[in-house]
Amino acid sequence: MNLGIAGKFALVTASSAGMGKNIAHALAAEGVHVALFARSKDKLQAVAREIETRHGVQALAIAGDMTNAADVENLANTLEIKFGRLDILVLNTGRPPNPIRATLDELDESRWRDAYQVQLWGAIQVAKRIVPLMLGRNWGRVIAITSASVKEPMRHHCLSTVFRAGVTAYMKHLANEVGNKGITVNCVAPALIDTSHRTSASAYSAAQAEARKQLTPLGRMGTQEEVTGVVAFLASMQAGFITGSSIQVEGGMIGALT
Ligand SMILES: NC(=O)c1ccc[n+]([C@@H]2O[C@H](COP(=O)([O-])OP(=O)(O)OC[C@H]3O[C@@H](n4cnc5c(N)ncnc54)[C@H](OP(=O)(O)O)[C@@H]3O)[C@@H](O)[C@H]2O)c1
Repeated sequence: MNLGIAGKFALVTASSAGMGKNIAHALAAEGVHVALFARSKDKLQAVAREIETRHGVQALAIAGDMTNAADVENLANTLEIKFGRLDILVLNTGRPPNPIRATLDELDESRWRDAYQVQLWGAIQVAKRIVPLMLGRNWGRVIAITSASVKEPMRHHCLSTVFRAGVTAYMKHLANEVGNKGITVNCVAPALIDTSHRTSASAYSAAQAEARKQLTPLGRMGTQEEVTGVVAFLASMQAGFITGSSIQVEGGMIGALT
């Protein structure tokens, strides 16, 4: 299927590694020019070079922190100068504080503040500065990566659930307000996606990781491609009548009918 987005311009946040990097590749494979934003300049530049070589599109590496207002201002200014427009915004974020804990064991205010900053405020700070750049062409796609926890809270994921529910609410408000500008706004809510690419300590022990596979009828973890494909679809021409939705990518883990 031709997604009809070749030649569009996208920003993918938190994209120096993992899901964000893979989403940038997936959009670039459709002929989309991509801007990458994360804190590690060297890693970002390497990803940008990899994308340009593999997909033949423009890839822009803009180093910065989503929680830092000056960095987000620089991001917006650089996009205006280098791209001159933006059609697709993918709001990926860093992870919540590690390790996961039971709700009543989440006692440290610093972990709550970190989770708020990284999961919720970072996404809002980018959205409120960048979405205005998308207005005026009667077409746009905003996609936030949240978590299936917003549909059915997972044990010990309270820090993530609380703030991703906030992102989901923000995106729903935004969808209602920019729909008449031709911009759709949706969330992709993953769970149980394989992150064996990560080199830093996992949030899960080996036993917890194995038990997680049994949480889905499919009995396995999802692949990165099974998330990036959904994001690319939501960015497509064909997804133009989907807005204000949260699409779960969790292998059937959620027990509810909807
Ligand atoms: N795997 C799953 O099943 C699953 C389920 C639900 C939700 N998620 C969520 O999906 C997201 C991506 O997961 P992942 O496994 O790809 O994570 P990851 O491998 O840890 O990558 C996180 C990315 O975020 C960037 N980042 C972190 N803090 C940032 C900040 N303040 N400003 C800008 N960039 C920042 C990092 O780059 P720098 O360090 O260079 O800044 C990195 O590129 C996370 O929010 C995760 O919680 C995953």
